[in-house]
Amino acid sequence: MAEVLIVDSKEAAGALVADHIAALVAADPQFTLGVATGSTPLPVYQALAAHAAAGVDFTRMSAFALDEYVGLAEDHPESYHSVIAREVTVPLGLDPARVHVPDGTGGDVATAGERYEAAMTEHGGVGLQLLGIGTDGHIAFNEPGSSFGSLTRIKTLTEQTRVDNARFFDSLDDVPIHCVTQGLGTILRAGHLVMLAFGEGKAEAVAASVEGPLSAGMPGSAIQLHSHVTVVVDEAAASRLQHADYYRYSQANKPAWQGL
Ligand code: F6R
Repeated sequence: MAEVLIVDSKEAAGALVADHIAALVAADPQFTLGVATGSTPLPVYQALAAHAAAGVDFTRMSAFALDEYVGLAEDHPESYHSVIAREVTVPLGLDPARVHVPDGTGGDVATAGERYEAAMTEHGGVGLQLLGIGTDGHIAFNEPGSSFGSLTRIKTLTEQTRVDNARFFDSLDDVPIHCVTQGLGTILRAGHLVMLAFGEGKAEAVAASVEGPLSAGMPGSAIQLHSHVTVVVDEAAASRLQHADYYRYSQANKPAWQGL
């Protein structure tokens, strides 16, 4: 089962996860981090930037993003190319040549998924994958109904996801309808999945993903198929978990050697 860590704040979650990543990078400077976009991972990136400022060298780390909108110019401020550059590549001092984001604008969008899968395979995969979760249970942009075996491909965003993401754009009409996203099968190949969620709006999806039945209708439940998953949530996002008492007990008795 997933390990569930309930923390007091987003900042505490960010520090916990960033400390672990910084230690991984210190041990292996060529570590590969799977990066997510959206609001959720920002506290992790902020805490990682503090590690970079304190001298942790991220210059040889590689990163693979989960997804990208189709049809949004790479230099649009809300393209995931721009977001990853702004939140991760620049503040951490990563080498841009080692940062990979799916191609949503190239001439041949139909092959963008295959090309990204090939790049990930050639690279040797992702060590730790950061994940957020949508209110409808999507991880990356695998909307409800996505196959657990799915690979990187073009997906159509649900209206719910477009409404949720409209806050990043001038209007709902500006939110792209399609994306290129790693599949659930792609994500499940990463060495360690770290899913973060904050706020009451995510509570239902978190509980269904961690404790509910495995279902393509709840893409987040795919994490139950992975052998090493850590779910880091604040109290509000934990509020629908049936076994929260057990998670707290387990967290209070977590062996020091275990790490994240
Ligand atoms: C984006 C991604 C999505 C987001 C999800 C939650 O790369 O992977 O699954 O994690 O849409 O978005 P926020 O964090 O903005 O609530």
